[in-house]
Amino acid sequence: MPQLTINGKVCDFEQGQSILEVALANEEAIPHYCWHESLSVVANCRICLGEVWAPNPRSEGKLEAWPKLVPTCQTPCSEGMVVHTDSPKAIGNQKSVMEYLLINHPVDCPVCDQAGECHLQDYAYQYGRAESRFLEAKIKAPKKDIGEHVLLYSDRCIMCTRCVRFTQEITGTGELIVDGRGATEQIDVFPGMGLDNELSANVVDLCPVGALLDKDFLFKKRVWFLTKTPSIDGLTASGDNLTIEHAEGSVHRFKPRPNPDINRFWITDEVRYGWKFVHSEDRINMPSVTGMDSWADEHANEAWMTALTTAAETLRGKKVGVVLSPMLPTEEAFRIAEAAQALGQEVVFGLGPVPTHGEDKTFKDGFVLRAEKAPNARGVRAAVGTLGTVHEWDQFLNAVDGCDALLVTGNYPSAWCEGDALAKLSSKPMVCVDTLH
Ligand code: SF4
Ligand code: FES
Repeated sequence: MPQLTINGKVCDFEQGQSILEVALANEEAIPHYCWHESLSVVANCRICLGEVWAPNPRSEGKLEAWPKLVPTCQTPCSEGMVVHTDSPKAIGNQKSVMEYLLINHPVDCPVCDQAGECHLQDYAYQYGRAESRFLEAKIKAPKKDIGEHVLLYSDRCIMCTRCVRFTQEITGTGELIVDGRGATEQIDVFPGMGLDNELSANVVDLCPVGALLDKDFLFKKRVWFLTKTPSIDGLTASGDNLTIEHAEGSVHRFKPRPNPDINRFWITDEVRYGWKFVHSEDRINMPSVTGMDSWADEHANEAWMTALTTAAETLRGKKVGVVLSPMLPTEEAFRIAEAAQALGQEVVFGLGPVPTHGEDKTFKDGFVLRAEKAPNARGVRAAVGTLGTVHEWDQFLNAVDGCDALLVTGNYPSAWCEGDALAKLSSKPMVCVDTLH
């Protein structure tokens, strides 16, 4: 495999890889703003520049210095190349770029949501100058409401154009543009448009500074108080990898977790903001038994024992219809089905309703937004299918009349059973496992 040396570290590379890509793959830090793995390379921020020496075929492969610093994000690796982003010349460039970017920046980190996860802040510490030499008045740029989920604080923008390229190259919607030139250029929405696409809030994650902000998270929590727990989209069949960011028992936001094979770097807005029901006042947090008084929190043990005993009595020895929700994890669905088989004399399995909306939509980079708005219909069918036939919802409803009792699971984020279906289920003794009242 061909090799090059980056800041003294010998690294393998594949033809076509840029110096920056190879450096990052080898945990060799090179500052970068405008480059992003999923977007085209524009090399406009200039902070990644490095000094390069490479064998010159015209002088029998002698290692020779290139005359200028070059953008490592845009320069392909070649055999025997030697790169320095830690040389005095490269460090001088990093300091100059940082000073330039901060000329008109308000440096309002104490009130900026991005503080703590801001590349400008981090690089100012790592690569910047300790003091500003700029004495003139800063240019003030407006705050703009650019879409349902996103605010733009223009004076924090470093014009990396990641957000613009995202709407051109990923969503293909092209709402964002660079307006103006020189010191007055700004990001804006195309006249007459808002930032309005199914992936719109991903520009907040892409923005390396605090210029694009999530309205839903605005001023809610300092990010260093958040605990990050890896998870998976629990609302749709997309299977998007995500991180749940929470503190003191409350969820504060969902962020995408990169997975090149599933969701690349993105999550849809419906998944990003679809978790609010977990804190709903209608959330069921204590079991209840029809005809009995409700239990206070301190009697949770008694409540659970009574509810579980009553549930077992309701199902034991009966012909049990089991509604297995497509919102369930595979393991839970399997265990519930097993329990029903152990208690009942006979069981009829049915998959709960599988909501769909429109058709699957594939974005320009291959990200797929699934029409199916339940995460695990396939998993439930496959796992419980090993125990018996799993009927689809309409078939199951036809079989309900022949059942003596029902074990029903819901766990949808909103009302899922209404009208005739609800009347049919309610006509039988029922054990219900659900999320919302
Ligand atoms: S708003 Fe953010 S992502 Fe867009 S150009 Fe400015 S700094 Fe880059
Ligand atoms: S990351 Fe290379 S020029 Fe911006």
